[in-house]
Amino acid sequence: MCFCGRDYERNTRPVDLGGGFAEGTRPYYVKNLLKIMFKKSVLITGGAGFIGSHVVRLFVNKYPDYQIVNLDALTYAGNLENVKDVEKQPNYVFEKGDIRVADFLKNLFEKYNFDAVIHLAAESHVDRSIENPLAFVETNVIGTVNLLNAAKNLWKNDWRDKLFYHISTDEVYGSLGKTGLFTENTAYDPHSPYSASKAASDHFVRSYHDTYGLPSVISNCSNNYGPNQFPEKLIPLFINNIKLQKPLPVYGDGQYTRDWLFVIDHARAIDMIFHQGKTGETYNIGGFNEYTNIDLIHLLCDIMDEKLGRPKGSSRNLITFVKDRPGHDKRYAIDATKINKELGWKPSVNFEEGLSKTIDWYLENEEWLKNVTSGEYQKYYDEMYGGR
Ligand code: NAD
Ligand code: DAU
Repeated sequence: MCFCGRDYERNTRPVDLGGGFAEGTRPYYVKNLLKIMFKKSVLITGGAGFIGSHVVRLFVNKYPDYQIVNLDALTYAGNLENVKDVEKQPNYVFEKGDIRVADFLKNLFEKYNFDAVIHLAAESHVDRSIENPLAFVETNVIGTVNLLNAAKNLWKNDWRDKLFYHISTDEVYGSLGKTGLFTENTAYDPHSPYSASKAASDHFVRSYHDTYGLPSVISNCSNNYGPNQFPEKLIPLFINNIKLQKPLPVYGDGQYTRDWLFVIDHARAIDMIFHQGKTGETYNIGGFNEYTNIDLIHLLCDIMDEKLGRPKGSSRNLITFVKDRPGHDKRYAIDATKINKELGWKPSVNFEEGLSKTIDWYLENEEWLKNVTSGEYQKYYDEMYGGR
């Protein structure tokens, strides 16, 4: 066992630092042992998911003096393979649990005495929200309020050096016409059950800041892409289908626009906001990189033809226009001037390079892809695309 209390043999949980005391009754010195060993104790929720796993990796490696607790319910979108490379690090702990369960959170906050929360856990797929809105209310709204309560109760008005950082989306701002950009002052206008649930959670975070003084910050980011994204979202789904030479289901006329950002640049932005952002503020994060879906799909097809040694243009033949997504937002585009000017952040990876790296990752990680597309995924795929 190492100095920090991790059991290297089992390597999934910290050893009990409670010295035999029941939960919630540990003496002051035991509770604060972790405080001596680590400068900060940071809870990252949703750290086994796509973006969360990149944030966990960045924080665990860059801040060995922070204890990073990854809390994830391991839903269909959560996968511990995503963080396998950091699981043996002495400052990393995984806790399986559900943010919908308030009592569980109370005990967890008591156990680790967190200084900060970076909240990414969510139901994140728009199409699923159309099928089952309530699941999005339960996790994204109630789960967020449960976390806010747990933080508020632990920190009990002593807000010094505490932070609740809520990760949100540009979808809360609704849909743009041909011109214009979302700024931090754009009025909320969500259209899907997913974006409505994220908007509600943002409002709750702001209300806890304004009502109780809870130190919080929110960032709203555009579409992410990169390794480890579950293949229900456009880019990984289409990479997998191109590989398998399956139809590429393009919603509507394909003239919808998204602003794409490489996931590692999002994680870098989160790091900057966590350390230098002002509490009570909102920061928009975007890629300065707009594509219509159809242009992006053409690019994807062409890069993959080249990488797979297929005749030029052959993957484009897989494109199939299908019934549109209801309430489909026409265009998202972020004005990221504030984070650029105030914190000096800008994307570091250009789109073609990011896309190429992403495709390589999926082609090289066949096992990962096979594991997540077996079983339940086939059922989901048939239900989502069968009748389109
Ligand atoms: P994801 O679906 O890949 O991961 C979500 C993670 O949350 C999974 O690991 C899942 O197991 C976990 N989770 C779900 N319900 C839970 C619960 N009740 N309790 C505990 N854990 C639970 O999502 P993502 O794409 O990585 O998105 C992460 C966050 O970033 C979300 O809040 C999302 O709204 C936001 N966001 C995503 C994007 C994007 O393009 N993907 C862009 C902007 C903002
Ligand atoms: O903007 C940020 C948001 O981006 C995040 O908050 C969400 O969590 C994330 O899922 C993403 O939402 P989108 O709905 O924009 O992403 P998705 O990959 O589902 O779709 C991207 C575009 O591609 C959208 O216009 C719908 C279209 N599409 C998607 C799928 C899955 C298709 O044409 N066919 C498809 O099969």
